[in-house]
Amino acid sequence: MMTQPMNICVLISGNGSNLQAIIDACAAGSVNGQITRVISNVPGAYGLARAEQAGIAFSVINHKDYASREDYDAALQAEIEEADAQCVALAGFMRILTPAFVEHFAGRLLNIHPSLLPKYKGLNTHQRAIDNKDSEHGVSVHFVTPELDGGPVIIQSRVPVFEEDTAEDLSERVREQELRIYPLVIRWFCDGRLGMQENKATLDNEFIPTSGYASD
Ligand code: GAR
Repeated sequence: MMTQPMNICVLISGNGSNLQAIIDACAAGSVNGQITRVISNVPGAYGLARAEQAGIAFSVINHKDYASREDYDAALQAEIEEADAQCVALAGFMRILTPAFVEHFAGRLLNIHPSLLPKYKGLNTHQRAIDNKDSEHGVSVHFVTPELDGGPVIIQSRVPVFEEDTAEDLSERVREQELRIYPLVIRWFCDGRLGMQENKATLDNEFIPTSGYASD
């Protein structure tokens, strides 16, 4: 039986290709959800045009307008609550969130990070994988906890790293995987199959291995 679509709020800072994948999955009916708000911390982020084109409400909460991280996150929280969101998806939202914010949304705050966590938390993940001569790289979707890029992994997808790869090559290869796995995770979440217990991710009430669901 189909339940009521879940309200999703997507937070972005830039291009919004992951946002687009979620918009498309909702429109296609493969995710039982609806994006009720897109929020960007960066005015003019291209993802806002994607939201507008899809007829989705959007807002800019510019971090430069706030004196502290706490004030910013309080404004963000209020906006998400106004959108009545049960799922908050960070999709290239390039800000560190306060523990209070993260704890408030615990268990319904998701992030996509372009590395095989716990490797390469933070920035420049593709270049770091190349510099370390890794033979594989990838992307993780995880629940957000107060530790930066440290929350329980839900799924990872791996890609090969070739000798002649530039960071852009690798980023493109990883991106292809991102656009597949993030909508899948949101689908699971909207179907009520995904949860977080004891700081671990669960799917259908079974713990997901720490390296994520399928890792091929
Ligand atoms: C994506 O590659 C995402 O994994 C990354 O930002 C990009 C956003 O692209 N996120 C992070 O680095 C978070 N630490 P998009 O705006 O086209 O979706």
